[in-house]
Amino acid sequence: MMLIKLGGSVITDKSRYRTFNKDRVASLCKEIVQSGKSAMIVHGAGSFGHMVAKQYGLQNGLVDFRQVIAVAQVQNDVRDLSSMVVKELIACGIPAVSVPPGSCFVMDDGELVIGDDEPLRALAHIGVMPVMFGDVVMDRKKGFGICSGDQAMEVMARMFKPEKVIFVSDIDGLYTADPKTNPDAELIPEVTTEGLKRISSEHTMDDVTGGVVAKMEAMLRMCDEGRDCILVNGTVPGRLLSAMRGEEIPCTIARL
Ligand code: IPE
Repeated sequence: MMLIKLGGSVITDKSRYRTFNKDRVASLCKEIVQSGKSAMIVHGAGSFGHMVAKQYGLQNGLVDFRQVIAVAQVQNDVRDLSSMVVKELIACGIPAVSVPPGSCFVMDDGELVIGDDEPLRALAHIGVMPVMFGDVVMDRKKGFGICSGDQAMEVMARMFKPEKVIFVSDIDGLYTADPKTNPDAELIPEVTTEGLKRISSEHTMDDVTGGVVAKMEAMLRMCDEGRDCILVNGTVPGRLLSAMRGEEIPCTIARL
């Protein structure tokens, strides 16, 4: 089984509130089917989550009761997004069900912990693909917190032990600097924990769950002896399919 995160930058237009990239999601779903591999999907929130979450400081937990309406708004928006993603998966013949992370997990001071994983395991057991996503989740210490799709990926990897983990984003991989602002930025094909320490932190951090370096750290935590984690560009048709098939493509591979 392959565990795949469809990043919010790929499935939504991150600069326009609640804008779903339907055609791109449909193509990515087709690539998953074409690969012939079984997969499990987690998706990000993009413009269905980050904008309102940032405006109300939801990443800080409950500090002011005026945030509560935003908790409801973001939860509603990301559920709408998730049902659009699931609709595309079902249209491709994949039996997918959207599972909000708060239905199985809780947060404890920002850390995602398993509450009751039985529903999740039961779905997977009968061959239904649980689709998890970035969301607002209740936190034992902070009231609530932001559970990123990356955090959900880590818990799902521990539970389901995928053979490969793929993060689909809107960049080819990790660069020596931010490729959107620095023309000299070079793609780093392989990253280890030691290597990451040396990499410049000149990367944009404009969302509530922290840029590409934080993503790489999460990816490194998900590697094990036989498992690499790959960051690929899902805005280029065919890249996800190639990554699933193990073909050579521009990407960054996190390795122990
Ligand atoms: C963010 O999840 C969740 C919310 C803001 C509610 P992610 O961090 O996984 O989303 P993307 O992939 O960056 O959009």
